[in-house]
Amino acid sequence: MAQIIGSVSTSHVPAIGGAIARNLQQDPYWKPFFDGYPAAREWIEGARPDVVVIIHNDHGLNFFLDKMPTFAVGTAPVYETADEGWGIPALAPAPGNPELAWHMVETLVEDEFDITTCQEALIDHAVSLPLALLWPEHQARGEWPVEIVPVCINTVQAPYPSAARCWRLGQSIRRAIESWDSDKRVLIIGSGGLSHQLDGERAGFLNKDFDLRFMDSLVDDPQWVTRYSNDELVELTGTQGIELLMWVAARGALDGGAVVKKHSNYHIPISNTATGLLVLEAA
Ligand code: DHB
Ligand code: FE
Repeated sequence: MAQIIGSVSTSHVPAIGGAIARNLQQDPYWKPFFDGYPAAREWIEGARPDVVVIIHNDHGLNFFLDKMPTFAVGTAPVYETADEGWGIPALAPAPGNPELAWHMVETLVEDEFDITTCQEALIDHAVSLPLALLWPEHQARGEWPVEIVPVCINTVQAPYPSAARCWRLGQSIRRAIESWDSDKRVLIIGSGGLSHQLDGERAGFLNKDFDLRFMDSLVDDPQWVTRYSNDELVELTGTQGIELLMWVAARGALDGGAVVKKHSNYHIPISNTATGLLVLEAA
């Protein structure tokens, strides 16, 4: 049976793509952010993942307001990036793993998640930048060392699924991976958040206290955040802070066993976002 090795949850911000393209990792503005990643890469090197289930939110590249699934799973053989309008370079296409993806679709539907199945899909900065941050040498060569299964949670157009529901989605993802007849090692990535608000009266809003409490809770009280409604989470973390739902689902995929915190980093701000990084090993 396939094995879940752990999770890496990380923020995503389009400007990171520009900083990578211009080699700004040592620039004083960027250094505290990029310095978080070598320890995560070191852990990944030892953990040797073959496949990554990447839980992310799309930002209008793949789904737009006319058609908005609450949950979607990519079953494509390959995922291209494309111009999102942020002026960042397109990165290499990521290979998919249709076998795991279809097995996940079957398990999730069995568990009563009415998902959208995508036999073709584009990936945006929420998928490509975590890959670039975790495998920069491969990114520079224009290829990736892992196959991906993208799982998309809507945080663009209300209503969004609750934190409790995203937790259960993660649990169902776990059940799927652990019942996949394969010897592959699977890493979960959660891509989103933490606190940020890009527009409106509270543009620029950050909440460091809440972010740090949330990151802490994911280690040994991971359902703490499910006490909050989505309206409360938006109040606490900003309109785009709701992307923290990706971290909740990623942690749900590790439920059922103890976890060991391997690394974390928190830095504010990058662009308008409080950036976090959390590496958990499945014990
Ligand atoms: C920013 C953050 C995001 O999560 C995003 O998807 C786009 C932009 C930002 O802070 O600039
Ligand atoms: Fe985002």
